[in-house]
Amino acid sequence: MATRRAARIGGRTISYLEADTRTAQPGGRSRGSLVLIHAFPLSAEMWASQLDALPPGWHAIAPDLRGFGRSEGDRAASGDGLTMNDYAGDVIDLLGHLGIHDAVIGGLSMGGYVAFALFRHVPSLFAGMMLADTRPQTDTDETRAGRRAMLDLVAREGAAGVATAMLPKLLGETTRRERPEVERHVRELILANPAAGIAGAIARMMTRPDSTAQLAAIRCPTLIVAGDEDALTPVAEARRTHEAIRGSVLEVVATAGHLSNLERPDAFNAALARFLSHKV
Ligand code: MLT
Repeated sequence: MATRRAARIGGRTISYLEADTRTAQPGGRSRGSLVLIHAFPLSAEMWASQLDALPPGWHAIAPDLRGFGRSEGDRAASGDGLTMNDYAGDVIDLLGHLGIHDAVIGGLSMGGYVAFALFRHVPSLFAGMMLADTRPQTDTDETRAGRRAMLDLVAREGAAGVATAMLPKLLGETTRRERPEVERHVRELILANPAAGIAGAIARMMTRPDSTAQLAAIRCPTLIVAGDEDALTPVAEARRTHEAIRGSVLEVVATAGHLSNLERPDAFNAALARFLSHKV
């Protein structure tokens, strides 16, 4: 069961979920730390099933990125100058605050973009990496145009408008057809976020650099996860990332879309547990 915590760092509150199964290990031995970074436009709560099923011996944290969930938002009113480095810096600060020197760091979609930014700044933090339903490329012109439209939408209709626009893309067709409770849950997670936090993330995603060239430099154990019904980052994209990261493992989650961990938590958790026990 995850516990909600908050850290006050540099005058800013960062809220996060924490799970700790180290005492479940003989002698309380630690296997390591796991950091899970959420997708857009969700929050740390999207990792609840992974935190609840954490294998023995691990300490896991899932932060709410700034402006999401219960973490404090940006102070500046305008979106100018916002970058993925802000999120990465908050995660670095939180790890420092908790005395964590290295961890298996994973993110889903936008969380993966944050993991790439973290790797650019402090590669030594990575005892392992998990890239779920994400891509290393920067936005295309078409994607940026879509993001500008999304900024208008969030200004006009807030989180509710974004939820309605995003849900069909976030969830796979099987989930939309057979798992209405997942759709309800994801909508609730989106609605809990302030419009300003969502707008800040859109601005940051639009300016993120391309991380493709960085893939060859990733030498830590790496798990790549992809839902086989992911329309936003198709499996072919995950395969390319897998081929570019030496020694990486690719796990395809059947009948899951972009939010593979929420749509098929059992399959996702099994893939993560295999990676943590055999590869890290
Ligand atoms: C996400 O799930 O985090 C978003 O789909 C990422 C994006 O829009 O690029």
